[in-house]
Amino acid sequence: MYHPRMKTEDDFRITLDRDAPLPLAGQIHRAIGLAVREGRLAPGARLPSWRDLAAQLGVARGTVRAAYERLIDEQLIVAAGAAGTFVSRHGVPVAPPPITADTTPLRDLIHQFATVPMVFQMGVPAQDVFPAALWSRLMAKAARETASGPVGYPDPRGDPRLREQIAAYLALARGVACTPAQVLVTAGYAGALNLVIRALRLEGRLAWMEDPGFPLTRKALELAGMQLAHVPVDAQGLDVETAMRLAPDAALAVVTPGQQAPLGVALAPARRSALLQWATRQDAWIVEDDYLSELQLKGRAAPALAALDSGGRVLHIGTFSKTVSPALRLGFIVVPAAYASHFAEVAACLSPASAAAPQAALAEFMRQGHYLRHLRRMKRVYASRRDALTACLSTSPMDSIATMAGLAVRLTLPAGKDDVLIAQRALEYGLAPGPLSAWHVDTPPQPGLMLAVSNVSERTLAADCQRLLRLIDEAG
Ligand SMILES: Cc1ncc(COP(=O)(O)O)c(C=O)c1O
Repeated sequence: MYHPRMKTEDDFRITLDRDAPLPLAGQIHRAIGLAVREGRLAPGARLPSWRDLAAQLGVARGTVRAAYERLIDEQLIVAAGAAGTFVSRHGVPVAPPPITADTTPLRDLIHQFATVPMVFQMGVPAQDVFPAALWSRLMAKAARETASGPVGYPDPRGDPRLREQIAAYLALARGVACTPAQVLVTAGYAGALNLVIRALRLEGRLAWMEDPGFPLTRKALELAGMQLAHVPVDAQGLDVETAMRLAPDAALAVVTPGQQAPLGVALAPARRSALLQWATRQDAWIVEDDYLSELQLKGRAAPALAALDSGGRVLHIGTFSKTVSPALRLGFIVVPAAYASHFAEVAACLSPASAAAPQAALAEFMRQGHYLRHLRRMKRVYASRRDALTACLSTSPMDSIATMAGLAVRLTLPAGKDDVLIAQRALEYGLAPGPLSAWHVDTPPQPGLMLAVSNVSERTLAADCQRLLRLIDEAG
C-alpha cells in the first residue's frame, strides 16, 4: 500500500490497496466520490488530468479514465476539455447523515413508542377502556368491504361517510356548523397541522405559540422554518393582549382554547373575541387544536372557538388520538368553506387521507352511536380515577400543590426541584409523570409534574403515589 499525493486545492490523498477485492478504478472512483460528497474536495476544485493522476498513483491511464468517466456520469465532476476536470459546482448530492445506533425520533420528548401506557403517562387514553372486541369486529367488516371494493383511488379528503359523521358530531358536541365538504380526514392532529402549513404557505412566517404549550407543535412549527412568539398563558388561557404586543403581525396563532395544553384552562370569552378580531384585522390564521374535544371532566365543554368564527379565520383540528386511540392515526380538519377546494387539492397532492379500512370502521363506530357512548364512559372512568388520585395525594404529607389540569393532576413542586430528573427516575418504577418544564420555553415559575389520570390503577395507586412522592422528596 502506498500514499501518493493527489494535487488539488485540498489536502486530499488517495490510498490504493492492490490486494483489495475492489478494482483500482473502483477505489479511485470511491475515494474521489466520497471526498466530493463530504466537501473535502470543494465545488469547482480542479482535479489532475487522468494522465497525471495515473502517473502519480502508478496505475494505467485507462484505470483513472474509467474512474473519472463514472464520476462524470454521476455528475460529481465535470470534464471541461482542455481547461481540465473540475468538481461539479452544482447539485453535489449531500452525504447521507451518519447512521447512529438509535434513530428513534423525538427522543427528548417521547420515551418510548408503541408500548402499553405507563402510570401517569400524558396524552394516551386508558388502555383498559378501549373497546377492543367491538373495534376488532368493525375493523374486520371494514377490511372485508375494502378487499372486495373498487381498487381505484379513494377520495383524498377521506371517506365521505366518516366526514359526514364528523360534521354531524361537531354540530352536536362542539357547536361548529360545517358541511362534510369542509372536513378533511388527516393523519391525526400532526397531519392536519402539516396540511395547514403547506396549504397556507406559512413556512418562514411568524406564529404565536402558547407558553407553556404542546412541545410537538413547537417542534413542528420550527421544522417548517417558522419564527415563534412565545405567548404566556394564565388562568384565562392565552394572553392575547401580550401576544398582540409581542407579535402584532403574526400570520398564525396556534391555540388550545378548549382545555389549554397542559394547564387545562379554557380560553376566556373576552379573549376568544379579541383573538378572532385580531385574526380578522390582520388576515391571520388561527389553528384551534381541539385535541380533547368534549372530553372534559369538570362541567360541560365550552363550544369550540370555530363556532364563533364569522370571519372564516379558524382552522379547527380534531383528533381521535385521545378519544379512541392514537394508534389509529386519524384526525380531521375543518376549513372555511371558501378554502375547501384549495385544501382538497393540497391534500390530494401532498397528504391524502390514509388507508380506507380504519376510516370506514370509525365511520361505523360513530354512526352506530358507539363514539358518544365511549366518550361518556371515558369521562366516568377518568373522573373516578381523578378522585382516587387526588384523594391519595391529599392524604400524603407533601409540600407540593395538586390542581386539576385537563385530564391530569398538576403537582407544583417546591422551587429548586428538577422535574425532568424526577420524571426520568420515575420511569424506572413504571411511572411516567410529565415534567412541566418540557412544555415551557421560558423557565416555568415553578417546576411541576403532570400526572395523567387515564392510566392509573386504583389497585396500585397508593403505592404509586408513595413512590413518586419519595422520588420528589429525594430529588435536589
Ligand atoms: C395538545 C395536543 N394536541 C394534539 C395532540 C394529538 O396529536 P395527534 O392527533 O397527532 O396524535 C396531543 C397529543 O398528545 C396534544 O397533547
